[in-house]
Amino acid sequence: MTEQDFILKNLDSSKLDKGSCTWQSPSNIALVKYWGKSDPQIPKNASISFTLQNCHTTTNLAYSKKETSSKIFSVQVIFEGKINEEFKPKIIKFFERVALYVPFITEYDFVIKTDNSFPHSSGIASSASGMSALALCLMSIEKQLNPNISEEYFTQKASFLARLGSGSAARSVEGELVVWGEHKEIPSSSNIYGVKFPFKIHNNFKNYHDTILLVDKGEKQVSSTVGHNLMFNHPFAQQRFDQANENITKINQILQNGDLKAFVNLVESEALTLHAMMMTSHPHFVLMKPNTLQIIEKIWDYRRKNNSNICFTLDAGANVHVLFPEREKEKVNAFITSKLLDFCQNNQYICDSVGTGARQL
Ligand code: PMV
Repeated sequence: MTEQDFILKNLDSSKLDKGSCTWQSPSNIALVKYWGKSDPQIPKNASISFTLQNCHTTTNLAYSKKETSSKIFSVQVIFEGKINEEFKPKIIKFFERVALYVPFITEYDFVIKTDNSFPHSSGIASSASGMSALALCLMSIEKQLNPNISEEYFTQKASFLARLGSGSAARSVEGELVVWGEHKEIPSSSNIYGVKFPFKIHNNFKNYHDTILLVDKGEKQVSSTVGHNLMFNHPFAQQRFDQANENITKINQILQNGDLKAFVNLVESEALTLHAMMMTSHPHFVLMKPNTLQIIEKIWDYRRKNNSNICFTLDAGANVHVLFPEREKEKVNAFITSKLLDFCQNNQYICDSVGTGARQL
């Protein structure tokens, strides 16, 4: 599939006056990270993520034909029950980027009602789940206009559109593991949409857990846009992109052979490398907090003493994602509640696990 294949042609919206649709889309956590891109949202390396189950965005999109035609986007955003002006510029920008592919969006007045299952300003990025839910709603309208599109086309184009809103949103349509970015060992992988990990996943990774420790719930210190731009002229950028692609090769094997020790090693190294790239860019940033490091120390200590397969990963922030296999869940949950919650802001954390992808409500 190329960009051209996603352009909706022979548009006839005369029979669709109004309607509404609702999608629930998950967040995801990258195991091999995407950091660095070129225009338009083309990743510099392939990435892979676990789709989450409990952290999600639910978006209802109501549409009605404009009374007078105009090329200006007409959108109202209601977030958690209240009119929200703050998100509007991001959504207008998203509409501008996708208009070529879903040209009907200039023909309707839209009301977007959206809610997250996780607390607002928890430091958990809602752009992946939010953009993918909105992209799926747009695809539901496209399907009304063109009922012949296949399920595969629907999913791929939803991921394609979501990517234009937020890169990592490309990985928030399907489950349980999604690869985004061309990679020689992942058949059908693409720079313009995410694909389900195409091989059989070892049972060790079934229902894998991700408990998110909310260390710092403040605003993101570095926006994604600024962060990705730091990779231009970064002294280690090319080595990092090569390393990430090598890590995809490694994790591809690990996910199939179930080698948990190798998984732990690779996933933690990826998290620390992401942060190392930010510490060594110009300007530089330290996004971890003292409590992030305290938690990491405790996780290492627990792992050593209990021969556990617990590990951590990080996003571009201070919160810690604690990853562990299903069979360790009782013990690790007890460890988290007794030893790690003191390091969380207001003792807050979210229990999540690997999910199966977005669903229409
Ligand atoms: O989707 P963006 O542009 O917000 O980038 C997110 C990048 C990371 O979350 C830091 C890593 C990743 O691959 O999800």
